[in-house]
Formats: sequence, C-alpha cells, structure tokens
Amino acid sequence: MGDVKKLFIKTYGCQMNVYDSERMAEAMGGAGYVETQTPDDADMILLNTCHIREKAAEKVYSELGRFRDLKTANPDLKIGVAGCVAQAEGEEIMRRQPLVDLVVGPQSYHRLPQMEAKVRAGGTALDTDFPTDDKFDTLRHRPKAARGPTAFLTVQEGCDKFCAFCVVPYTRGAEVSRPASRILEEARNLVERGVREITLLGQNVNAYHGAGEGGGDWTLARLIWALNDIDGLERIRFTTSHPNDMGDDLIAAHGECAKLMPYLHLPVQSGSDKILKRMNRSHTAESYLRLIERIRAARPDILLSGDFIVGFPEETEADFQATMDLVEEVNYGYAYSFKYSTRPGTPAAERAQVEEDVKSERLQRLQALITRQQRAIQDAMVGRTVGVLFEKPGRLEGQMMGKSDYLHAVHVANADVAVGDLVPVEIIESGTNSLAGRLIRP
Ligand code: 5AD
Ligand code: SF4
Repeated sequence: MGDVKKLFIKTYGCQMNVYDSERMAEAMGGAGYVETQTPDDADMILLNTCHIREKAAEKVYSELGRFRDLKTANPDLKIGVAGCVAQAEGEEIMRRQPLVDLVVGPQSYHRLPQMEAKVRAGGTALDTDFPTDDKFDTLRHRPKAARGPTAFLTVQEGCDKFCAFCVVPYTRGAEVSRPASRILEEARNLVERGVREITLLGQNVNAYHGAGEGGGDWTLARLIWALNDIDGLERIRFTTSHPNDMGDDLIAAHGECAKLMPYLHLPVQSGSDKILKRMNRSHTAESYLRLIERIRAARPDILLSGDFIVGFPEETEADFQATMDLVEEVNYGYAYSFKYSTRPGTPAAERAQVEEDVKSERLQRLQALITRQQRAIQDAMVGRTVGVLFEKPGRLEGQMMGKSDYLHAVHVANADVAVGDLVPVEIIESGTNSLAGRLIRP
C-alpha cells in the first residue's frame, strides 16, 4: 500500500469554488491523498482563490506568506494556487511568491494528479488553459461515501455578459453548459449518498442550455423539472441568475414545481439606468422591477436576494439614491453589497473613480437599509409554519440546526429529529441571525 498523503484545501469566494474544492479533493483522492482540516500536518496545501474584488486577491498572498515556516519545517510540503487568481495571474504568482509549486486554473482541475506528480519530482507546474476536454467529465465518478443532506452541483460555468466591472468572463471563460444526462447522473449519485437538497450552480445559471436527454438543448427550467422526478431529492435551488435570462418557463416553474424552493438570487447591481448602461448590464431598473412583479405573480411568497455595487465610476449621489429607491421598492430578504473595486483589464477600471470615503458612506447607508429589510422579512416568519431541513446539531445540548424553505437559519431546542430530516416547524422567535422554531408534530 502506498503512503497516504494529506491535503489541506482552503476555499475563498463563491459557492462554485466550494464545489470545485470538493471535486479537487476527490481527484486527489485517486492520487493517494486524504483531506485534513489543518495546514500543519499537510503534504500539500491548495488555496482555491477568488479574484472578484481586490481584497480577495490580496488575501491570497498574505496567506501564502504564512506557510513559509511550514515549508521550512517540511521541505516536502507542496503548495498550490487554484481558482480565479491562478487564472488571472498565472506564473506571476510563482514570481511574487516562490513558495508556490503549482498553479492551476479553474478549467484544469482534472489534470491536478499529473501536476502533483510533476511537483513531487521536484519541478513546478502551471496550467491555466481553457481545454476543450470537459473537466467534469474526467471528474465524473464521485465516490459513494455518505455525506450531508445538502450539496452543490455545478451545471454551467463562465459568462458571456461582460459587465464592465467584472473579471469572471476573463477568469472563467465563455459560457459552457454541462449535458443534462451528466447532471442527472450526478444528482442521483448524490441522493443515493443521502443528499436531499441540491443547489444548481453557475455564474449565469439561468442561461443554462445544455444538451438534453433525447436531443435538443434544455433550459434550466427543463432541467429542474427532470430533477423534480428524482425520488429522495426534496429541494432544488439555483444560483446565480441574470435578469435577462429569466425565461418564462423558469418563472412558471417557481409557481408550479413543488421541489423548487421559494428563494431567488437575482442581482441588479444598481438602480440607476445611467450606471446600469455603463455597467453594460443591458437591462434597466424599470425592466428589473417588472420582472420581479412577474416572478411574484407566479410565486407571491418568494424571498428575493440581490447583489449591489456602490461607487461604480461616475456614480453621483442621485444615481446612488436611485439604487436606494429600487431597494425600497423590491424589499429584499437578503442582499450583498460591495464597494466598487477596480479590476485590472476590465473596462470600468479606466473610468473616473469615486472617492473611497464617498463609497464607504454610501455602502453604510445601503447596508443599513438592507439590514432593516432583511430583519423585517425574517421577523415576519414568526407564527408561520415552514419546512426545515436539518443539517447539524446546534451548540446547545439537544438543539438541531437547519434551513427553512426560504433559506433562513432555524434552530429547534430538544428536537427529536435526525440530520437529513425535512419536517414542518413553527417559527416562534426571530433573533439576529436566525429563527427559533418548534416541531409541530407530537
Ligand atoms: N467590484 C465590486 N463588486 C464586484 N462584484 C463583481 N465585480 C465587482 C467589482 N469589480 C460583485 C457583483 C457580483 C458579485 C458576485 O460581486 O455584485 O454580483
Ligand atoms: Fe460578472 Fe456580469 Fe457575468 Fe455576473 S453577469 S459573472 S457580474 S460579467
């Protein structure tokens, strides 16, 4: 038997990276690695990185610096950088931080075992191609080991939208959808291993147009309906969507498909048409609001979440106020807001920048409004009965934690339920970050 080696993976950024990290761990399992939860005893450290904002990218270098002592103590330790920083910076990473042995872009993870062999032999390895072979196809066979009740499943990668602020079209490449048959096979495999909720992932997930079973392309809605037929799968979610790709069939599915959860992440970024135009979003504030109306007509109780950028180049106080007005009108159950961050190589980086303290002040106002909305929507759950899928024990004896249909964190005291149970829960109290509930069955 060969030596078992230990792999530590640290994941930054979006859920697609969380999914990719799992798949990298599986690929490295074939090369004799088991995962470890600490870098201290690792034979290989992989940072799966995010390049979306400047801070995220800088974190990678400061983290790498911290591994110097580990590498001195164990010269056989290999250090790799994966993800979007790897794609964007390539061999520059090894120049800036010579501790790094391996750099692998998001489309090349299936080649990790060969790259590992190369660095074990004393070399360095770099792969930031956009290969034509499908990484998911090569990584197809997921091990049968049992796992938790929720899982991510990437169905689509890349983006053709080219929003003027965003690096994703450069780091993740053009939109590619996986064939439906592969996705369904992976979903069935997950369900056999105990998964009851699947979140379909894609940078532009609702632009999904993969080869269908029996010919022709499928839309995301068609794929969701096929997943709906899998026994044992109880909940379906998807993220992240673009307003321009919300097809009629997907909107209708929100009203008709029993397993599709009443939650939709639909970023708008700004409420000002001038800024939206400069962002190259190809929708207006008004068209977004009309879209929300149609979605709510199909599913009145749907909880909406969004992403916002404040301080985009040339954003005036009036433009920002338009964003505040849009937020008021939509009423979000959840929202993520960011200060605009200049990304090298993107069109917006060239334009007149808003001052840092103006950005900070606008962010504060927007976040205060969003927090108020989130809290009010969460508080309004009190007295309602919602489905909760239990995911883990809580910190208190006998307490269990799970997520509601609307994705709120819910805890139940003295709960006679197991991880993986999906049961109705009456919400009795709303706290800062979670709801308290009680089982309504005896
Ligand atoms: N600066 C700030 N926020 C950004 N996002 C993407 N690019 C940038 C940037 N350059 C935000 C968008 C997107 C989310 C994932 O990150 O709001 O929806
Ligand atoms: Fe980036 Fe826009 Fe594509 Fe989203 S839609 S990944 S924000 S370019």
